[in-house]
Amino acid sequence: MGNDLRPVRGTRDILDEEILRFERILDATRRVSALYGFEPLSTPILEFTEVFKRTLGDASDIVTKEMYTFDDRGGESLTLRPEFTAGVARAFISNGLAQRAPIKLYSHGPLFRYERPQKGRYRQFHQINIEILGTAEPGADVEAITVGAHILDTLGILGKTKLEINSLGDSASRDAYRAALVKYFSGFKNDLSAESKIRLEKNPLRILDSKDPSDKKIVADAPALGEHYSEDAKRFFDTVQEGLTASGVAYTVNPRIVRGLDYYCHTAFEFTTDLLGAQNAVLGGGRYDGLIEQMGGPKTPAVGFAAGIERLALLLDEGKNHARPIAIIPIGAAAEKKAYALARSLRDKKIRVELGFGGNAGKRMKRAAKRNTRAAVIFGDDELASKSYKIKQFDTGKEHTVPADMLAEALSDDTGS
Ligand code: HAM
Repeated sequence: MGNDLRPVRGTRDILDEEILRFERILDATRRVSALYGFEPLSTPILEFTEVFKRTLGDASDIVTKEMYTFDDRGGESLTLRPEFTAGVARAFISNGLAQRAPIKLYSHGPLFRYERPQKGRYRQFHQINIEILGTAEPGADVEAITVGAHILDTLGILGKTKLEINSLGDSASRDAYRAALVKYFSGFKNDLSAESKIRLEKNPLRILDSKDPSDKKIVADAPALGEHYSEDAKRFFDTVQEGLTASGVAYTVNPRIVRGLDYYCHTAFEFTTDLLGAQNAVLGGGRYDGLIEQMGGPKTPAVGFAAGIERLALLLDEGKNHARPIAIIPIGAAAEKKAYALARSLRDKKIRVELGFGGNAGKRMKRAAKRNTRAAVIFGDDELASKSYKIKQFDTGKEHTVPADMLAEALSDDTGS
């Protein structure tokens, strides 16, 4: 096969059982998020590079090595979105949504990150994404986490995950903590990885997230953020935890949850699983109070999360199969014409119908068998004259004739529908 017929590395066609899982995930997310008052929002896949570059963090993995960035024919630097939040924030500003704040928005679609592909990690992947914009109340953090848990529960996979939360503190806590980290890591400057040396300058918090073995040893004894929380930050985190308990959402506090993006403050959270190997993060998010203001919009505290649809799909149990269709087998020109209207009237009654286009009755029967059809409706001039249809059950081979006005009933009564 020519190179050009293969999908680009890290991208895939999604079909068969997997696309049905995607559909189930989107259906559940739509239904559950609507119960909480989320409205759908669709933003462009392409944004000006600045939308992501300034906001996700100069030292973040996404900005330094994972973005698909290119100049378009007009010389503008554009980027395929690597995440939703910055684009949603841009849309919030562009559309003057501050007027309607607090506002709850739900999005889904493809994202692009130049990562090393492996199970559960792709270069084009898909997320469901939830944002609550325009409220600084810890109750919004509780609601964001609760709707996430509710979606996982509706999909039957909450029990396969565990929820870990942390507080990244407010800016006062972070300033104090940053200073403590710089002081601590500077003592090990020569032992840090090259990447972490850069992080030490740009965002020392990200060193805590390092996968490098020698960094990890140094990180083990690093000061903890909890020791530097301001009174406000402490109170905020306590209130979030009380809300989660009151909502019946089980969690543990993990001070190592720092998240890979720079815009977070206060609450950071992740639902992880043991069932997907290295790609254990299923759903992650947190509060980002400064992002919209930093992008030039009005002061708009916000909180949200995203979940990888591929990863959710891997955790889903086998779905229910669609009801098996019935086939319509017309014999002769008059029946052939009648077949279209008959198909429509059965479909109006919610019966799945395969028309099977063209060929003689034998060919059509063979084709119908291939489509896992449960029964065939067979009719020619005789049946048309007597206003009746012949029904053949594929599983038993039995045939019987029913009056035309009893057809839909006879078919929907059928077992296995
Ligand atoms: P994130 O943690 O970068 O957060 O991504 C969220 C989820 O997307 C991950 O937990 C994972 O399930 C999925 N994911 C990420 N990268 C890949 C990949 N290469 N292949 C497959 N799945 C992947 C965000 O994107 C934030 N914008 C979430 C957020 C919304 N925070 C506030 N609001």
